Amino acid sequence: MLNDILSIKNLAREEIEKAESLKEIQDLKVKYLGKKGILTGKIKSLGSIPQEDRREYGRILNEAKIYIEDLLGKYEETFNTAELNKILQTQRIDVTVPGCYIPIGRLHPTTQVLDEIIKIFTSLGFNVEEGPEIELDFYNFEALNMPKNHPARDMQDTFYISDDVVLRTHTSSVQVRVMQNNVPPLRVIAPGKVYRCDADVTHIPMFHQLEGFMVDKNITMSDLKGVLEVFIHMVFGVDTKLRFRPSFFPFTEPSAEIDISCVICKGAGCNVCKNTGWLEILGAGMINPRVFEMAGYDPEEYTGFAFGMGIERVAMLKYGIDDIRLFYENDKRFLEQF
Ligand code: DAH
Repeated sequence: MLNDILSIKNLAREEIEKAESLKEIQDLKVKYLGKKGILTGKIKSLGSIPQEDRREYGRILNEAKIYIEDLLGKYEETFNTAELNKILQTQRIDVTVPGCYIPIGRLHPTTQVLDEIIKIFTSLGFNVEEGPEIELDFYNFEALNMPKNHPARDMQDTFYISDDVVLRTHTSSVQVRVMQNNVPPLRVIAPGKVYRCDADVTHIPMFHQLEGFMVDKNITMSDLKGVLEVFIHMVFGVDTKLRFRPSFFPFTEPSAEIDISCVICKGAGCNVCKNTGWLEILGAGMINPRVFEMAGYDPEEYTGFAFGMGIERVAMLKYGIDDIRLFYENDKRFLEQF
């Protein structure tokens, strides 16, 4: 009996010492000390030992158990430490290594200004509407009181796709589309790309505009003035002055061009405002009754105002940019300034 225990002890020690992994140690633990383990079996059979030997036998059995437990524990710890070290070695992170620089993009200045303008008008209760960039001649011209051969068409150098289809030359084309599908009151802005066959320091073939209009009973020019004043003050500051200059557009009557006091010299005169103290910023007016008729509205019942502006132009004035082409050259040195 005692020899039995001794050989179990020896065998366990041999096996434990030969183990090469934590897993093997865990298996040996089960093999010797588990519920059906070899040593556990011996402990369970203690009852069948004659009374007089049982005490001594139990003591030796217990000793062997503690011995194996301790040995297993020691090896377990060794393997645990080794495994941890391995993980620490292979998955080492040097927190002092400088991080790699990930350049972060930003919104294009045109988008930034457009977003700002949209935010202002939506806060005034205007809804955003969109129309197609490839537009029918009807919505771009005819419905805006510019029939074929109307001289005002020459004001805009149009890209014609066919006799009846153009690349829209302005976002005013959205006006009649919206009116046809809605009943007043209307408070709408229509931002988007427009196209003109033109290119120099202040003109590019594709640029952005924002059209705005308001239609209801009893809309007057003072509503136009009030809305534009709020808008200009929010974009350029409350000290900015506005000036309405009589002008002509076929789709508005009366029409005006709106100037703001020069953002650079505050009106004193500089080369940006060509010493006039004023900068032209947008076109506007009271919607021509002919346009209402085209949309199927009764011009006796409704009145409204409309205005249109170039987004790049607003951005140029806001940031003092003198060449519109900079917006589309994708020069990082330019773009990173916004
Ligand atoms: N559509 C005009 C343009 O492209 C801008 C404009 C002027 C829009 C007067 C309007 C307006 O709504 O009333 O130059």
